[in-house]
Amino acid sequence: MASEVGKDILRQGGNAVDAAVAVGFALAVVHPEAGNIGGGGFMVIRPSNGQVQTLDYRETAPARASRDMYLSAGPEASVTGHLAAGVPGAVAGLTEAHRRYGRLPLSAVLEPAIRLANEGFLIDEYRSASIGEDSSRLVLFPASRTTFLPNDRPPAPGSTFRQPELGATLEAVRDSGSAGFYRGWVADLIVAEMRRGGGLISHEDLGRYRAIWRDPIEVTYRGHTIYSMPPASSGGVTMGEILNIMEGYSPLPPFGSVALMHREAEAMRRAFTDRNRYLGDPGFVRNPVERLLSKDYAAELRKQIGEQASVTPKFEAGMDAGASTTHYSVVDADGNAVSCTTTLNNSYGSAVTVTGAGFLLNDEMDDFATSPGQPNMYGLVQGEANAIAPGKRMLSAMTPSIVLDRNKQLYLVVGTPGGPKIITMVYHVISNVIDHRMSLPQAVEAPRNHHQALPDSLQVEEGGFLTATLDSLGGKGHGTWSRGLWGDVEAIIRTPGGWQGVSDPRRGGGGAGY
Ligand code: DON
Repeated sequence: MASEVGKDILRQGGNAVDAAVAVGFALAVVHPEAGNIGGGGFMVIRPSNGQVQTLDYRETAPARASRDMYLSAGPEASVTGHLAAGVPGAVAGLTEAHRRYGRLPLSAVLEPAIRLANEGFLIDEYRSASIGEDSSRLVLFPASRTTFLPNDRPPAPGSTFRQPELGATLEAVRDSGSAGFYRGWVADLIVAEMRRGGGLISHEDLGRYRAIWRDPIEVTYRGHTIYSMPPASSGGVTMGEILNIMEGYSPLPPFGSVALMHREAEAMRRAFTDRNRYLGDPGFVRNPVERLLSKDYAAELRKQIGEQASVTPKFEAGMDAGASTTHYSVVDADGNAVSCTTTLNNSYGSAVTVTGAGFLLNDEMDDFATSPGQPNMYGLVQGEANAIAPGKRMLSAMTPSIVLDRNKQLYLVVGTPGGPKIITMVYHVISNVIDHRMSLPQAVEAPRNHHQALPDSLQVEEGGFLTATLDSLGGKGHGTWSRGLWGDVEAIIRTPGGWQGVSDPRRGGGGAGY
């Protein structure tokens, strides 16, 4: 439904940014587990003139947040409930992207989302089951209970789901832009909700929130140019480090081989070690981006990689969380491209719906190093660079990316949800296309593997790799861990026949075009 909204906006004469903004607001209505006006995100924009910009609308820690707040409040407090929420960035980001690049009026790009909220849409099995899976968290908060569990049950497949309070909030944004959210009655309701549940977000936090334009991370890979997200996301730097290490293996060993998966695991391990140690909000810490992305540094790291796993094998299982992030890629007829990933963090974020305003608040505070040395909900162990401080953005793994071919022509727009695995999934799609010569549908469907330094295990998608391969990797010292299917890549590639959009078969999204 959100993809159809984007297509309609393009048809009305909107450009890729108009369509992306319309899709973003529509997802806030039709994909409540991940979308998102109570959360934040990142957008990489490549206008057809080639001047790439990125927009950081990540949440910030409230002014009253402090480094050790979850040591006393307890670890669950950064995941569920009012204390888990950072100051939302999505409305500031979407309206700012539209202000700078949009062609249609804001009212036109918000209209479809407002209609879907007020008139409702048909609930499918996926969404009904997804609300059911998180019902034990949603039932804890009265406004979430009335919104998502009418009659104390998730809305049945085939029923119409209306969200009039969310519709009114979106109308406030339509009428007053971002001030309709960060000031006025919506802001009053957010602050009242905080008071109700002991949360920290104040009028001052909301009034102070700004989306930030940043220069993209730019990495070359076998003659291609990749633009991705700089800190406050770790996505571009960490993926760039992996690509730089792998570029030195030329050609790469074949897809699915022990030789390839071993080298990937060692490259990923090193990139995530640097990520977890060095990266954080650039407003607070100096990110050594130039060094981490230099080809010389990659060569140094490559030299350390032998034929055995370079850390004493010790299998450790990590943690995993739900599906609360969403990615969309847009290309318009003029060749403007947008790659956008947004999140609430966990499914349904903090599970707190703002009473009277109809949207869920994020639990992005858990992306900080909430308890130094302890894994977060994705098993990431992070340090001081990502410690909590008032006004600071928590480090993300989201990796919206745009790839140019060897002639600097727009080639691939790509991204996905999936916590830290986002970084390795986007790496895989790019490498599958460039190195393994896969078509985009093959590249997206191909089984995925992931290493993030800690937990120290090579995670692989269940059923994706031969047992003999996993046994050989074990012989090299990798503890391999098979489980589930990951992610939801939404990508667009240029083919000789035109643009081809591919939606990951794993999670039930869909593309649209004309
Ligand atoms: O910003 C991040 O890295 C996380 N909050 C993303 C979480 C995520 O992708 C969960 N979705 N499946």
